[in-house]
Amino acid sequence: MRICMVGSGYVGLVSGASFADFGHDVVCVDKDELKIARLRAGEIPIYEPGLDTLVEENVASGRLTFSSDIATAVARSEVVFVAVGTPSRRGDGHADLSYVYAASREIAGAIEGFTVVVTKSTVPVGTGDEVERIIRETNPEADFAVVSNPEFLREGAAIDDFRRPDRIVIGTEDERAREVMSQVYRPLSLNQAPLVFTSRRASELIKYAANGFLAMKVAFINEIADLCEQVGANVQDVARGIGFDKRIGPKFLNAGPGYGGSCFPKDTLALAKTAQDAGTPVRLIETTVAINDQRKRAMARKVVAACGGDIRGKTIAVLGIAFKPNTDDIREAPALSIVQALQDNGARVRIYDPEGMKHAASVLDDVAFTQSPYECAEAAEALVIVTEWNMFRALDFERLRGIMAAPVLVDLRNIYRREEVARHGFAYSCVGRPD
Ligand code: UGA
Repeated sequence: MRICMVGSGYVGLVSGASFADFGHDVVCVDKDELKIARLRAGEIPIYEPGLDTLVEENVASGRLTFSSDIATAVARSEVVFVAVGTPSRRGDGHADLSYVYAASREIAGAIEGFTVVVTKSTVPVGTGDEVERIIRETNPEADFAVVSNPEFLREGAAIDDFRRPDRIVIGTEDERAREVMSQVYRPLSLNQAPLVFTSRRASELIKYAANGFLAMKVAFINEIADLCEQVGANVQDVARGIGFDKRIGPKFLNAGPGYGGSCFPKDTLALAKTAQDAGTPVRLIETTVAINDQRKRAMARKVVAACGGDIRGKTIAVLGIAFKPNTDDIREAPALSIVQALQDNGARVRIYDPEGMKHAASVLDDVAFTQSPYECAEAAEALVIVTEWNMFRALDFERLRGIMAAPVLVDLRNIYRREEVARHGFAYSCVGRPD
C-alpha cells in the first residue's frame, strides 16, 4: 500500500520505517526541512535502538522516502497517518490539538481518490469527529474516512513493540476503511496480533485508559513500597506474589522514583481533564497524578536521610537523567525534579547518563555533567541511581569507595542488594525493601 506519515517524530519515524519494512511504500513527511534533510542524509534525530539500521535498509530498498512536500505525499497515498505531537496545553492540562488540526487542513486540500486518514497521535475522545469535520469543510469533494489507530510503543523498545504488539486497535465505522486497515496490518495479523475493531470514540479512549491504567499500576506499587518500608516487608516479594495472579499480571510493578516520559504524565492529565469536562471525574487517575508528583520530592528526602539529614554544601552524584533506560528522552524525567530538590536543599549535583545529558544542559542549571559513573562519583557524599541503565548494574564498588567522599549508595531502582554493596563498606538505601 502507499502510505504517508505526517510528522516524522518518534511515532511517525518508527511506524513509517516499520511499515516500509513490511513491504509498504512509505513517505515520511515533516514541516521541519532541516529534519527531512538530515533524515535523507541518514541522520536519525532520536535515539532508539535499531532504528538507524531499519531506516537505512528500507531507504536502500526504495520503500522509505522523506519529504517536506505534504501535498504531493498525500495525493499519492491511500493511507495518511497523522503522527504529530499532542503536548499538554499550558495551564489546563488538556491535549493541545493545534498540530493535529493544522495537519488535517493540509491533508484535506491534497486528497485524491478514496483516502483513509488515520490519527496515530494520542488524541482525546471526539477528536476524530473534528478531524472529519475539518476535512469535509476544507475539501467538500474529498472521498475519505477518518480512523483512530492509537500507538502503544514504548521508547527504547519501539521497534520490537511494533513488530510484536499485544493488539492493534482500529476505530472506524467505515467498511472501506476497515478493509484498507486490514491490508496495512496484514503482515502483523499473520503473526497472530489481534486486530481489535471498534468505534472511533472507543479507540481514542482505549489509548488513554491503557496509559492511565499502567500509570496507576506504577503509582500503586510505589505506595505499597512506602508501606513496605514502614512494616519491614520487601516490595519486590509483594509484587512477585501478586503478579502471578493472571488478573493482575507481573509487569509494571517495579517500585521506583515515579513514572516520567512524554506519555504517562501528559496522558493521565488529559484523561483526568476529559473526564472532569464530561462530568464523570476519574478519581483514581487524579490521585495517580498527585501520588506521582509527590513521589519525586519524597525521593530527594530519601537522599537527604541517607546523608545523615543534611546535604548543604555536599556533592551528590546522580546516575541517570533519562526517564528510563535506552532512551535520550528526559521529558518529565523524575531525575529532573530530584536534582532540583537536591539543589534546593543546598547540594552540589554531578550527573552522568549515557544518552540523556545532551538535552539536560538546557533545563538544569549549576550541575556538572561528567563522562562516566566514576567521574560522576568523584568526591561525592552519595551516589544516587535514578535510571536503571544496564551499565549501572555492575559498578566497581571498590573503585567507587576509593574516589567518593563517603560510601553511600541510594538505589532508587532496586538494582542492588544491601549485602553486596555493604561488603564494600557502602551504606545502602533503596525503595521498599529492608535488604
Ligand atoms: C508508555 C506505554 O508503556 C506505551 O505502551 C505507550 O505507547 C507510550 O507510553 C505512549 O503513550 O506513547 P513509555 O513512556 O515509552 O511508554 O515508557 P514506559 O516503559 O511505559 O515507562 C513509563 C514510566 O514508568 C518510566 O518512567 C518508567 O521508569 C516507569 N515505570 C514503568 C516504573 O517506574 N515502574 C514500572 O514497573 C514500569
